[in-house]
Amino acid sequence: MKKKSNNFNLILIFCIVFCSFSFANNLNTSFLDSIDSLKKYYISLFNIGAAINKDIILGLDMESKHIVESQFNSITPENSLKWMFIQPSPNSFNFKDADKYVNIGLKNNMHIVGHVLVWHSQLPDFMQKIESKSEMNNHFESHINTVVSRYKGKIDAWDVVNEAFNDDGSLRESIFYNLLGNNYIEKAFKLAHDADPKAYLIYNDYNLYKTKKRGGVIRMVKGMKSKGIKIDGVGVQAHWSLNHPSLDEIEQIILDISKLGVDVLFTELDISVLPNPWELVGAEVNQNFSKFEGDPKMNPYKEKLPKSIQNKLAKRYKDIFKLFIKHSDKISRVTFWGVMDKHSWLNDWPIKGRINYPLLFDRKYQAKKAHKALIELGSINND
Ligand code: G3I
Repeated sequence: MKKKSNNFNLILIFCIVFCSFSFANNLNTSFLDSIDSLKKYYISLFNIGAAINKDIILGLDMESKHIVESQFNSITPENSLKWMFIQPSPNSFNFKDADKYVNIGLKNNMHIVGHVLVWHSQLPDFMQKIESKSEMNNHFESHINTVVSRYKGKIDAWDVVNEAFNDDGSLRESIFYNLLGNNYIEKAFKLAHDADPKAYLIYNDYNLYKTKKRGGVIRMVKGMKSKGIKIDGVGVQAHWSLNHPSLDEIEQIILDISKLGVDVLFTELDISVLPNPWELVGAEVNQNFSKFEGDPKMNPYKEKLPKSIQNKLAKRYKDIFKLFIKHSDKISRVTFWGVMDKHSWLNDWPIKGRINYPLLFDRKYQAKKAHKALIELGSINND
């Protein structure tokens, strides 16, 4: 009899703890329920999504997770599917976080993006040390086949290759280029297609408003299509700022890429409100501006974002989305590179330790004027 009462007590304690935890979570997120939803207005035009970080994937940031589930119909893993995390050592795969990421998408019936199969950055150390073509080829084929096959029928779209071009339109001399030659891009797309013939395949890059860089991508896409290699879309990362690039430059990207017979996607949209050192643009992550750290001129809004800049950010997002709506027949997805300002990579790039405000939700998970502007625009467009 004693034993039974012990078990009963344990079950009772578990129920109390579980109920109070989920109640607390609901309390934390119930204030988000009143916020109008972006996907309600935009899902008829294009998939609308957000990049989600490890804390969201592991359920450690329930407020952001609630925002993602209520505002968006698509998700992208900010880091959890990158080579350094998935295959940290040769032929040793770790899919724990990636599986959790995919399950969030499946549970919410979302459009699930895989980011990223082939990228010169965030590679594990062993990849950097490879010197032979045959060894590189083996890992290249094994990684793409293992990862895409695992999520066949679950991940809808893959960033197959990321940032393969320089600003002048030449191919970046990455370890993939140097060891496998300039057709490593085509090889990656073929491998991904073979592993999951139904997956939607994307080439992803930044600074595509630069005519020469866009020209290199256009030549690549034309070459692949002439050979019958499946490529469905070109991802424009869209790490932009308040005044750069211009709306005309953005529109030209859309027009030039859609002429190729592929979709245009805006895959990593965020809008920095901070000054860029040396008129820096794009997302070349290898640049280092440590000497500007602590420079108040480079971090002007440490306490809060002035109303005037909030309004500028809202107008910038609204102007960009007016363009997206105008060309929604050419655009298949718009994804924000993050959920709320505090977790944006732009707080530490290109200068560490800054306070940036690039996204639609602020540091208290409140919807910003920029979010309101997109809701208003979307509701007018839906009328
Ligand atoms: O995982 C480690 C953690 O163990 C460690 O304690 C911590 C210490 O700083 O670092 C963690 O790794 C960080 C990683 O994000 C995961 O959080 C790296 O330092 C950090 O450099 C890395 O930054 C990511 C960046 O890619 C890497 O280049 C950003 O979060 C991510 O937003 C950014 O995303 C890229 C896209 O994938 C491709 N397009 C450009 C975009 C911006 O660079």
